[in-house]
Amino acid sequence: MKGIILAGGTGSRLRPLTKVTNKHLLPVYNKPMIYYPIRTLKQAGINEILIVSGKGHAGGFLELLGSGSSLGVDLSFDVQENAGGIAEALSLAESFAAGESVCVVLGDNIIFDDISGAVKEYESQGGGAKIFLKSVPNPSSYGVAEISGDKIEKIIEKPENPPSDLAVIGCYLYDNRVFDVIKGLKPSGRNELEITDVNNFYIDQGSMTYNVLNGWWGDCGESFDSLKEASDLVAKSSLAGLDGFFDVGGSTRKVGGIKKDPLKRGVGV
Ligand code: DAU
Repeated sequence: MKGIILAGGTGSRLRPLTKVTNKHLLPVYNKPMIYYPIRTLKQAGINEILIVSGKGHAGGFLELLGSGSSLGVDLSFDVQENAGGIAEALSLAESFAAGESVCVVLGDNIIFDDISGAVKEYESQGGGAKIFLKSVPNPSSYGVAEISGDKIEKIIEKPENPPSDLAVIGCYLYDNRVFDVIKGLKPSGRNELEITDVNNFYIDQGSMTYNVLNGWWGDCGESFDSLKEASDLVAKSSLAGLDGFFDVGGSTRKVGGIKKDPLKRGVGV
């Protein structure tokens, strides 16, 4: 399985912070935002990773991350010329994926749960897709899942009247058919190829599964407050430790005598 981090877009909700800096290079406490999705993939055993960034910012990613060897991953880069949507950014990864399944993480999402168990589950489900849901107090800001019994009926993007409090977080597992699915999409009202349309395709096909996250999850790109909340939580957590941040098989350093890790609320998906 290949990893893909989508780090394009305009970052308009975080202006002026994003006027000259790509959103995903902004600090989340003591690390650039992009480190966190890289860590999520590495923790799941996915080391071959493509980063898709926006025009004008690719140099910053290369300078920061290089080949990825210092983080123990193998990085490739691509550029999305215009912010045509998450699914459009993903379409650029087709040749990189080279027929394999993919784990896609949005570059502004911080996931504390270890998703490696879910990735293994996905690999034995025989294709299709898997998404991750998280109960949130403000579902209208996200894609929201409509669930009936155990079954996911559909996803509605940023609904005024959410059918549940379960947000679809920015981490998706797809088989290689995803690139054909994207080719069949039409731009939405905001002229983007929507990842929610991709997910609804798999739901309609009956090949979508989901896991609910227990640990903390944050979309740092949503607002100044969400960026600050993520920084504050990371500062108090084991993720703040520099030693071991990428040594995901090993232990993490304890920071500042903090006894309880606020992000570890029943981790496991
Ligand atoms: O964070 C989870 C949410 O992410 C989901 O619940 C929504 O269903 C999904 O649509 C998405 O919503 P956002 O409004 O947060 O998406 P945003 O436009 O902020 O883009 C998220 C990331 O995707 C961003 O960090 C960079 C990448 N992206 C986005 C666009 C529009 C690209 O690489 N290219 C793009 O053209």
